[in-house]
Amino acid sequence: MSRDWSGPSRLVTNCWRWDGLLLLCKKVLHVLFCKILRGEMEDGEAWTMVQKSGNQFVVNGQPFYVNGFNTYWLMVFAADQSTRGKVTEVFQQASAVGLSVCRTWAFNDGQWRALQKTPAVYDEDVFKALDFVMSEAKKFKIRLILSLVNNWEAYGGKSQYVKWGKAAGLNLTSDDDFFSHPTLKSYYKAHVKAVLNRVNTFTNMTYKDDPTIFSWELMNEPRCESDPSGDKLQAWIEEMSVYVKSIDPKHLVQIGLEGFYGPSTPNRAQYNPNSYAQQVGTDFIRNHQVLGVDYASAHIYPDSWISQSLSDTHIEFTKSWMQSHIDDAENHLNMPVVFSEFGVSSKDPGYNSTFRDTLISTVYTNILNSTKKGGAGGGSLLWQVFPEGTDYMDDGYAIVLSKSLSTANIVSLHSKRLNTYNSLCSWKCHWACKKKHVADNFQFHEEL
Ligand SMILES: *[C@@H]1O[C@H](CO)[C@@H](O)[C@H](O)[C@H]1NC(C)=O
Ligand SMILES: *[C@@H]1O[C@H](CO)[C@@H](O)[C@H](O)[C@H]1NC(C)=O
Ligand SMILES: *[C@@H]1O[C@H](CO)[C@@H](O)[C@H](O)[C@H]1NC(C)=O
Ligand SMILES: *[C@@H]1O[C@H](CO)[C@@H](O)[C@H](O)[C@H]1NC(C)=O
Repeated sequence: MSRDWSGPSRLVTNCWRWDGLLLLCKKVLHVLFCKILRGEMEDGEAWTMVQKSGNQFVVNGQPFYVNGFNTYWLMVFAADQSTRGKVTEVFQQASAVGLSVCRTWAFNDGQWRALQKTPAVYDEDVFKALDFVMSEAKKFKIRLILSLVNNWEAYGGKSQYVKWGKAAGLNLTSDDDFFSHPTLKSYYKAHVKAVLNRVNTFTNMTYKDDPTIFSWELMNEPRCESDPSGDKLQAWIEEMSVYVKSIDPKHLVQIGLEGFYGPSTPNRAQYNPNSYAQQVGTDFIRNHQVLGVDYASAHIYPDSWISQSLSDTHIEFTKSWMQSHIDDAENHLNMPVVFSEFGVSSKDPGYNSTFRDTLISTVYTNILNSTKKGGAGGGSLLWQVFPEGTDYMDDGYAIVLSKSLSTANIVSLHSKRLNTYNSLCSWKCHWACKKKHVADNFQFHEEL
C-alpha cells in the first residue's frame, strides 16, 4: 500500500513545498533587497549617524522627524551609584512612549560633581558617568543632543570660565568676555576637544564616531547682552562651529539658541515675545547662516517671556512663533529647525494639567503640519521628562510620564504619527516595500 501511495503524495507535498519555498524565497529576497537598499542590517535597524538632507534629518535613507525630550542632569545622576538607576528608568519610560532623542548636558564646570574641575582637568568618574549615559541611551535606541557649556550659572557656565580666567590673572570685566577673550575661548575649545575625543569606557567607541549622538550643541541658550549688535556672539559661533567640525565632521552641529529675532531682520521682530528679545545679542537668521551650523533651534517659553499667568495668549504665541521659525528655516536657512525646549511650569498662576496638554498638543500639531509636507519643522523636545522620585530636581516643568497618563498618551500618539511618516517616506525604497505599511497606516494618514 505504501508503495502505491507514497510516490504521488510525496510528489504533491514536494510540489507544495517547492511552491511555498519559491514564494518564501521571493519574499525574503525582496525584504533583504529593501533592507540592503536602506542600509539596514539583519538584526533590525542599523545604528547609523543622523544626517541632514536639505530641510530634513535623515537616518538610514529615511526622514527622521523627532519626538524628543530633555533631562539635563543625567551625567550627574549617573555619577553616583545610588542614583544611577534613574538614568535607565527615564530612558525606559521615554522609549515606551516612542521618544527617540534626549537633550542633556555634557558639561558641569567647577561645581559639585564637576566633570571639568578646572580648565582641561577632568574627573574620570564623572566622565565614566557620561559614558554610561551614552551606552544606556543606545540600549533604548535613544539618541543624544549633547550641550557643551551653559550660558547660565547652573552647572558652571560662562561665568565659571570667567572665574577661572580671573584666577589665572586675566583682566576680565564681564561674563560675556567668555565669547571674546582668547584665553577663555581656548578653555572652551579644550573642553570641546576633550569631549569629542573621549573614548567611551563602556562601548570603546570614540564619542565623535558614535551614532548615539544626534548632534553637538555649542551652548545652552547663548546670550550676549553686552553687545546687542550681535557681532560678538556671531564671531564666537563662527569660530566654534568650525572648530567642532574640524575635530568631528560626522556629527551635526547646532548652536543652542532660544530663537529670538535680532537686528539683521527687523521685519521679523514682530514675532518676538517681547521687545527685549531683540537686545540680547542673538539673531535667529544671521546666527544660523554660519558655516558649520547644520540645523536651527528655538525654545518656546511664553510663561517666562510674556506673562506667568497662563492664558490663550500663550497658545496663540506658540503657534505663530513655530510657524515663523519653520517658514524661515524653509525660506532662508534651508535647514531643519528643532524646538529643542518647550513646556510650562506647574508653579505658574492658572496652571492645570489640561493647559499643559493643550500646549503640548499645539506644538505637536504644528510639527505634524510641517512633517506632512516634508517641511523644516524637524521636531520638538519636551522640557522636561523625569522619572519618579526626582522631584527635588523639578523646576516646575517636570513631566513624570508614569504619573501623567493623559500626557503620556499624547506623547505616544505623536510618536506613532511621526514614525508613520518617517517610515512611509523612504526615498530609496519607495512604495513596493512599503505597500503593507501604507495599507496598515492609511487610517492614521487620513486622520491627520
Ligand atoms: C582691565 O580692563 C579694563 C577694560 O578693558 C580697563 O579699563 C582696565 O584699565 C584694565 N585693568 C588693568 C589692571 O589692566
Ligand atoms: C573594550 O576594549 C577592552 C580592551 O581592549 C576589551 O577588554 C573589552 O572587551 C572591550 N569592550 C567592548 C564593549 O567592546
Ligand atoms: C486650565 O487652565 C486654563 C489656563 O489657566 C484655564 O483657562 C482653564 O479653564 C483651566 N481648565 C480647567 C479644567 O481647570
Ligand atoms: C500649516 O502650515 C501652513 C503653512 O505652511 C499654515 O498656513 C497653516 O496655518 C498651518 N496649520 C496649522 C494648523 O498650524
